[in-house]
Amino acid sequence: MSADKREQPARSRVWLFASLFLLVAILLAACAVQPEPLASAAQLQLGEQVYAQTCAVCHGDGGQGHVLPAAPALDDSEHAWHHPDAQIQQLIVLGGPTMPALGGQLSHEEVVAVIRYIQTWWTPEQLQAQQEFSRQYPLREP
Ligand code: HEC
Repeated sequence: MSADKREQPARSRVWLFASLFLLVAILLAACAVQPEPLASAAQLQLGEQVYAQTCAVCHGDGGQGHVLPAAPALDDSEHAWHHPDAQIQQLIVLGGPTMPALGGQLSHEEVVAVIRYIQTWWTPEQLQAQQEFSRQYPLREP
């Protein structure tokens, strides 16, 4: 009984240090340098223009999809974010079963900008996952 009591302060010190360590770790994680933003403001502005002029007719103004019934949503509501950058790039440039090939009408810069623009519609978790897939399949240079 008395031995137990003597161990008590030592045990609570362990808990105190463990909690302090955890607190410091959480604070450090919170202050960690934010990753580089994916796109510059100019790139997003270009992407917004390209989207409005080229994509909205099928995918909807805010990427809600299905203006053309077969055109999926590009926002966070369906699965656009499951595709890595290279696959989205390829779809835009070469087209899909129904989506037209737009490589002849958009420059490489415009394709990259519109991808960066639609990425602003995804949740941070979706974007993070998509960026992980994209590390394996990054954008191809022209
Ligand atoms: C003429 C209609 C049309 C236009 C214009 C169009 N798309 Fe599509 N898009 C589709 C269709 C339909 C699909 C489904 C795949 C298919 O059938 O080709 C698709 C699929 C996609 C996907 C894959 C989504 C998913 O969840 O799998 C992305 C990303 C996409 N389009 C982006 C764009 C972007 C960006 C533009 C503009 C640069 C664009 N699309 C222009 C019709 C269009």
